[in-house]
Amino acid sequence: MELKKGIWLIYFHLMLFYVNGSALNCTWPNAESLYDALDETIFSKNHLRPVNLLETPTNVSISFILAGILGVNEKAQTFTTFLWIRLVWIIEGLTWDEKECGSEKLSVKRENLWIPDIFILEFMDEDQSPITPYVYIDSKGHVTDEKPLKVVSSCKLGILRFPFDVQNCSLTFGSIIHYDSAIRMVLGLSAERILSQSREVLQTEGEWELLNITAAESLYSLDGGVYHDIVFNDTFIFIQT
Ligand SMILES: *[C@@H]1O[C@H](CO)[C@@H](O)[C@H](O)[C@H]1NC(C)=O
Ligand SMILES: *[C@@H]1O[C@H](CO)[C@@H](O)[C@H](O)[C@H]1NC(C)=O
Ligand SMILES: *[C@@H]1O[C@H](CO)[C@@H](O)[C@H](O)[C@H]1NC(C)=O
Ligand SMILES: *[C@@H]1O[C@H](CO)[C@@H](O)[C@H](O)[C@H]1NC(C)=O
Ligand SMILES: *[C@@H]1O[C@H](CO)[C@@H](O)[C@H](O)[C@H]1NC(C)=O
Repeated sequence: MELKKGIWLIYFHLMLFYVNGSALNCTWPNAESLYDALDETIFSKNHLRPVNLLETPTNVSISFILAGILGVNEKAQTFTTFLWIRLVWIIEGLTWDEKECGSEKLSVKRENLWIPDIFILEFMDEDQSPITPYVYIDSKGHVTDEKPLKVVSSCKLGILRFPFDVQNCSLTFGSIIHYDSAIRMVLGLSAERILSQSREVLQTEGEWELLNITAAESLYSLDGGVYHDIVFNDTFIFIQT
């Protein structure tokens, strides 16, 4: 009986950790050894959310650069933008020594990892964005997923006071299936920084000007669960050239 209990406890203990909590063991300080160590410890678990206890939510931080305003379709009430999105989350317990493993970060195929299912609620068209096959993992267990995204989103457009018109379009980022007990969205950069960076790189034909970006967390209930999202409201002004 006692033995059985002991075995159960050991089993439970093993189950408890996604990564066993100690730093990775790299045979040599090079990328191949680091890859092998990651392969042994986390790649085989890519079907599981990377936390030790499933009650712990994964915090997915989001930021983006609005790099282009491609156009509006007043009839379809859609708005097309080009974003560079950056998502960052943590693989709980994963660490390695930069000297022992030879580098501070490594790019790996996204198929090797658990990736959060973050979508834009207002998305209205099939995703024609280029595919980015790699994500970065760093020695503290952060995963960084950066990708370009062409977004055709629904937006209540009112082109009434042409040529100067202010439009407010929302982009809501959140998980499609995970409730807030599993995925929580957090702001990776302040809305002010997102606005200033976007203004620096924004490529438009001079037709549109980005006025403001605001961001807020949003919780909404559906089917007995609560989703934790982040809403960005982008305010644009239409200028006739
Ligand atoms: C690294 O090796 C040590 C000593 O053998 C071991 O205790 C530890 O669990 C190993 N780390 C990982 C992540 O496997
Ligand atoms: C996410 O944030 C919550 C609240 O700050 C914290 O309790 C939780 O441990 C975090 N999750 C991870 C995986 O770090
Ligand atoms: C957008 O927001 C501005 C400022 O809050 C407001 O003046 C304007 O009417 C709004 N436009 C639309 C289309 O909702
Ligand atoms: C942008 O929105 C924020 C929050 O509503 C506000 O404090 C700020 O003054 C606005 N900036 C501009 C340029 O409209
Ligand atoms: C974004 O716009 C929606 C709808 O107009 C509004 O309810 C919400 O408060 C706005 N959020 C922010 C952060 O401005």
